[in-house]
Amino acid sequence: MQNDIQEILISEEEIQQRIRELGAQLSTEYAGRTPLVICVLKGAFIFMADLVKVITVPVEMDFMAVSSYGASTKSSGVVKIIKDLDASVEGRDVLIVEDIIDSGLTLSYLIEMLQGRNAASVTVVTLFDKPAGRTVSLEAAYTGFVIPDEFVVGYGLDYAEQYRNLPYVGVLKPEIYSK
Ligand code: PRP
Ligand code: MN
Ligand code: MG
Repeated sequence: MQNDIQEILISEEEIQQRIRELGAQLSTEYAGRTPLVICVLKGAFIFMADLVKVITVPVEMDFMAVSSYGASTKSSGVVKIIKDLDASVEGRDVLIVEDIIDSGLTLSYLIEMLQGRNAASVTVVTLFDKPAGRTVSLEAAYTGFVIPDEFVVGYGLDYAEQYRNLPYVGVLKPEIYSK
């Protein structure tokens, strides 16, 4: 285990098993259709890569980069678009892939934006959900794991851009972000 990690919350095996289940459910949901799968960079890139491999319907992919946390453990409340989508979502069945929902601000902003661009449908799959952090009411159609109100890193989730490459999700030692 990485030295800055206090405890592993969800193991690599548990994550991979749950992603296979989500992939099977999404393949049923989108049977006969070709969804446009949107990765919310950077956090969702590892989940996206593992998830699309276990979805059996044809998919197209696009990537969008937004940021609201910066180098802090608290959301700034302002969602900044760093990179927009390459293609139009008009008339498309959009599946937004997120790593985590905390306050809900990032996704509520994105959902509204994609609906405003006339997507045919907008569905959210998030690997992690931290309901205790919510400041706007929002629920994903598909959730991997509900997690407690602790600052977690790994499997795409960062603290000041580090720890995204951990294959598991862990709780960061408090001394790392309080110093
Ligand atoms: C994190 C995370 C989600 C969002 C969730 O992204 O990846 O996108 O915050 O928080 P919210 O529900 O309170 O909006 P971040 O802004 O840290 O950018 P990153 O994905 O590049 O790390
Ligand atoms: Mn993110
Ligand atoms: Mg982040």
